[in-house]
Amino acid sequence: MSTLITNIAELMTQDAEHRVLNDAAVVIEGERISWIGPAAAAPAADDAVDAGGRALLPGWVDSHTHLIFAGDRTAEFEARMAGESYSAGGIAVTTGATRSTNDFDLTRLALGRVAEAVSQGTTYLETKTGYGLDLENEARSARIASTVADEVTYLGAHLVPAGADADEYTDLVCGPMLAAVRPYVSWADVFCEEGAFNEGQSRRVLQACKDAGLGLRVHGNQLGEGPGVQLAVEFGAASVDHVNYLSAADIEALAASWAGWQGTGVRGTVATCLPACDLSTRQPLAPGRELLDAGVPIALASNCNPGTSYTSSMAFCVTTAVLQMRLSVHEAVRAATFGGALALRREVGNDADGERAVGSVAVGHRADLHLLNAPSATHLAYRPGIPLTHAVWRAGVRAR
Ligand code: NIG
Repeated sequence: MSTLITNIAELMTQDAEHRVLNDAAVVIEGERISWIGPAAAAPAADDAVDAGGRALLPGWVDSHTHLIFAGDRTAEFEARMAGESYSAGGIAVTTGATRSTNDFDLTRLALGRVAEAVSQGTTYLETKTGYGLDLENEARSARIASTVADEVTYLGAHLVPAGADADEYTDLVCGPMLAAVRPYVSWADVFCEEGAFNEGQSRRVLQACKDAGLGLRVHGNQLGEGPGVQLAVEFGAASVDHVNYLSAADIEALAASWAGWQGTGVRGTVATCLPACDLSTRQPLAPGRELLDAGVPIALASNCNPGTSYTSSMAFCVTTAVLQMRLSVHEAVRAATFGGALALRREVGNDADGERAVGSVAVGHRADLHLLNAPSATHLAYRPGIPLTHAVWRAGVRAR
């Protein structure tokens, strides 16, 4: 089955050449893109969709979410808006609610959040454990996550549960808990921050998870400067997320991790910026402009979670990145598509197992497409807050 999408006013491919085509068309064949070019030269297909002079982008790649949770933290949010500052301790509230929710309801809640994201143009999504914080509930969270998300990250090291000894809990995270989640996850993460896990504990988590064959990422430098970025680079993590408080040495280390990329293809550590979280916690926005100027690839992600960022709107993140972080529209869209794919190591496909690249519109890539109800992507920033998603294709299937 093939579908021709034609009469595209602006096709922002986010491909290797950063091409933006006007008066374009795209052909989908099964789950992949089979043709891109001028609308006037488009081949025939089984089905045709008239884009009506709208803009087409890659679907959003949301590389940082925490969707496996129950409960509500409205009161904490209200207190924060009244002047209280965010601390990691709120995680315990969600952990209590999550533990006392059955599998069916936890899955239903997570699926609802995924559906909400897809309806806004997200076509590839990572999610994490981290509100279980004991062996049984982390394994359960990982199992449920593997049924709802494209990529799953083990975040047993999100918070030391109340009453536990931090080093003993780290032993559990690195040992039996890791073994229990391993069948369901391909990534591991650690919240390396004062009030969560210190450098030594974070190092142990990263080493154990690396030894178990997991790809790595780090929650780092969210609430203050700290060792998160340097650890992420040292361990070859695919991303370090939050990055609100960076020293010049942190930015240098991130840039150095990409030094060989163009020649060797060896990727460094993506800096993942989470502007919705920054606004909701009243933290300074991550220095996305400075990171890009230093040559560090960045991702934009929603960080959807009940504590610090209860939104799955990638469009909101893109709008904020343009209006407040001084990214161009093209840079912001790239960070929310190709950048997310890079943070998940999915910007290239793997023909051996039939995995398709995501995060850009190119022949052979997964047909993850987002049609805006606007003639250009600029409208994402020009019309802040307006829901602009007109149609979504996820792996070639119309999802909205
Ligand atoms: O990414 N920083 C740590 N984890 C989440 C917040 C979790 C929570 O407060 O529930 C985050 O912001």
